[in-house]
Amino acid sequence: MSANIIGTPLPRIDGPKKVSGHAHYTADRHFPGMLVGVPVCATIGRGHVKGIDSAAASAMPGVRAIYTHENFGTLHRLPDDSKLRIDERRPPLQDNEVRYYGQYVALVLAETFEQASAAASAVNVAYAPATADVSPIRAPDEPPEPDTERGDPDAAFAQAPVQVDEWYGTPPETHNPIELHASVANWQDGALTLYETTQAIVNHRAVVATMLGVPLAQVRVVTQYLGGGFGGKLWPWHHSLLAAQAGRLAGRPVKLVISRQMMFRNVGHRAETRQRVRLGAQPDGRLVSLRHDYLWHIARGEENEENCGEATGYLYSTPHLRVAGGASARDVGPNTSMRGPGAVPGLFALESAMDELAVRLKMDPVALRLANEPGHDEMEDVPFSSRHLRECLHLGAEKFGWARRNPLIGSMRDGDTILGWGMAAASWMAKRRPAEVKVLLTDDGGVTVQCATQDIGTGTYTVLAQMAARATGVDVSRVKVEIGDTALPPGPWSGGSMATASLIPAVEAAARDAVRQLLKRAAAAGESPFAGTAPALLAFTNGAVTRGDGGGAVPFGDLLRRIGAGTIVGNGDSPASSEDAHAKDVSIHSYGCHFVEVAWQPAIARLAVRRVVTVIDAGTILNPKTGRNQIEGAVHMGVGMALFEETYYDRRNGAPVNANLADYVLVTHADAPQVDVTFLPYPDKALNEYGARGIGEIGLAGVAPAITAAVYHATGIRVRDLPVKLEDLLVAQENT
Ligand code: MOS
Repeated sequence: MSANIIGTPLPRIDGPKKVSGHAHYTADRHFPGMLVGVPVCATIGRGHVKGIDSAAASAMPGVRAIYTHENFGTLHRLPDDSKLRIDERRPPLQDNEVRYYGQYVALVLAETFEQASAAASAVNVAYAPATADVSPIRAPDEPPEPDTERGDPDAAFAQAPVQVDEWYGTPPETHNPIELHASVANWQDGALTLYETTQAIVNHRAVVATMLGVPLAQVRVVTQYLGGGFGGKLWPWHHSLLAAQAGRLAGRPVKLVISRQMMFRNVGHRAETRQRVRLGAQPDGRLVSLRHDYLWHIARGEENEENCGEATGYLYSTPHLRVAGGASARDVGPNTSMRGPGAVPGLFALESAMDELAVRLKMDPVALRLANEPGHDEMEDVPFSSRHLRECLHLGAEKFGWARRNPLIGSMRDGDTILGWGMAAASWMAKRRPAEVKVLLTDDGGVTVQCATQDIGTGTYTVLAQMAARATGVDVSRVKVEIGDTALPPGPWSGGSMATASLIPAVEAAARDAVRQLLKRAAAAGESPFAGTAPALLAFTNGAVTRGDGGGAVPFGDLLRRIGAGTIVGNGDSPASSEDAHAKDVSIHSYGCHFVEVAWQPAIARLAVRRVVTVIDAGTILNPKTGRNQIEGAVHMGVGMALFEETYYDRRNGAPVNANLADYVLVTHADAPQVDVTFLPYPDKALNEYGARGIGEIGLAGVAPAITAAVYHATGIRVRDLPVKLEDLLVAQENT
């Protein structure tokens, strides 16, 4: 079994703990004497706090402390050149300025959550409000520098026989993992253990230590389980610093779980985007010019990028291209990464424009993509490590039955229901972050793999067990996985779909180191059956030490007991792919495509996505069960992006109006299409020895434009501003 453990659909090894309630999430942590923190949130969108009257709140039952910018002590701003990551760089409760609606302006600590909540609503804050700018985003006065450029795209566009020039928009989207953000701070003798909801414990630890002004060694961050993140939990947010600092000041453990409403204000969102795409093409469909200009909003004073042009430079072949983006500052909370940041909204624009071009050319949209398939990465002028988009398109079309598509608008019916068929291509980066791993061989015959990375619900426990089983030849049932604690060797963040690819070479290296030490001990120890044999003449196969000819196999656990060696600790590390000779001079990306059927019932104004066929080229899939689960989840998220999700900011003050799960519409089971996922079987050895690239985000890229293409095919209405609203379809219906 072990030899083939990579590629086995192993059920999640942490599944039984999760379904039986034995998996402890951050908010489940309790400590004796623990206080509960509830923040007080600003009710203006911009201005200053004039005064805070907390006398009545302080006198309420169970209240132990109320902190404001006047008594919270000093927190440090990260140096501007710091490589550490935080999206809201200004530390909390350090001044009286309000920059966005809902910003924390005070913190109440009480014995219970109910007492703290009651007291927080009794804190009286007086404001000097200023006018908040939450207007729709506009182009900056200075045109932004291009991200990438080749040829003369404007001249080529002007001369192109067929042109598309359209604007596309995506709304602010709010991350809504079911698990609320939470921090539990426990100080003991000047050292902090911080239980967190984070996708990146190593960064979190360093940021908190720096901002609190304590040595790194005095801070430990623990995230054993995470109930979803989607980028919203990548970098620390202010509640974490509030809990840590309040625990230090109060001298008691502090728990702070933010509310769903705060999730919409204080912990990031995907920025609104406005994007203009200009395509110039020959009558045969070949692109001659591609321009992609995009805008996104940022919080005033912050600088988080929404890199919509991420995939534009290399996805299609074109001699002339320009990609440029600029930010538009608004009085809203900081934006952050959301699943497939940049590329996902960017591909909505690019792939929508490609569909419009296909319509203009009277060309099949699949054929249009095939006609523009590049032979190498024309942006970086390097070869692709492994690109099979062509095969994705052919296979997806075949599985979907695309050949039966009648391109005439509204021509495909199922009774009174109009069917629309659309498709789009997808791409996402593939990189490695540095990683250090320990592989332990224990004298009970078990293997333990350790790393300060975390499982955000995607299956990292399970694939790490598979890696360690593969690297040692020991059955996966004998592997223990220890992650989620910064006391372990530093590992990668769970973001950018990079964790799995980053861990593979480090696990392999740690296992090699452990085996090397084992064979040395086997050769040297007097009690060993291999005593006196040169280590080079020994081998390690399927968990047993043998002579080079394969004879005399002794399972390593037996051997370790026989020689009294206890545990062998192997250390492994691997650099970022940008530092790796195999990876840095090739273009490494994942590819895919989605084929979508929508059902439009004009009589009752009902629009649904019925089925999706997705083909993904992401290299080796370590675990097809957890892998398919990732892609299916991402496709559903894409249905939400196309049809439902939008955060509405009150234009007067920037308050998110629909800041709850009733009014912020997420995709539900009732909206779920039938999803058919296929993975292409091409290992990408440029990135690691198993050829795995990562699959967390690629499944979302391209879903929304495939859906709006299908909506166009059904209705003749081109929706360029997400989400698709029934009003868009009804108004147009009345007009025809
Ligand atoms: Mo992902 S947005 O990198 O968690």
